[in-house]
Amino acid sequence: MVAVIAVVLSSAESVAQEKSEGKKLYLTYCSGCHGESGKGNGPAATALPAKPANHTDGAVMNQLSDKYLFDIITKGGASVNKSPVMPAWGNLKEKQVREIIGYLRTLASPTKYRVPETKIGP
Ligand code: HEC
Repeated sequence: MVAVIAVVLSSAESVAQEKSEGKKLYLTYCSGCHGESGKGNGPAATALPAKPANHTDGAVMNQLSDKYLFDIITKGGASVNKSPVMPAWGNLKEKQVREIIGYLRTLASPTKYRVPETKIGP
């Protein structure tokens, strides 16, 4: 019983940690265009030729697979037939991208929170 509680607590802790890492990364790399709360209204948004996606729209975001998100983040919008204004973040490590995806999942409403567990990189 104690062991079970310990396992539950430690996995909850690692999820929380992953979420806050994801948030930090998101605020560093994404919020300038997508906005701090993910609504697509970052400070740079109005100057862009394409409107940054609204990550709070669960009807759209929950349809997007982890693989799709991984590809658009690491290879950019053009790689998935979206606007090239969405940059490629090829410098991020797979773990960091997973953390960002986990954080994106928390922004969507309704929320589909889940940190991708399996390897989704190339
Ligand atoms: C320079 C501005 C800019 C930055 C920085 C940026 N994006 Fe984007 N992003 C865009 C634009 C513009 C689009 C819309 C492309 C389109 O609709 O064709 C987009 C689209 C997306 C989409 C596609 C959603 C869909 O419906 O297919 C996702 C997911 C996304 N961005 C995630 C991110 C993440 C995660 C980061 C940070 C690692 C990030 N973006 C950083 C501008 C940006």
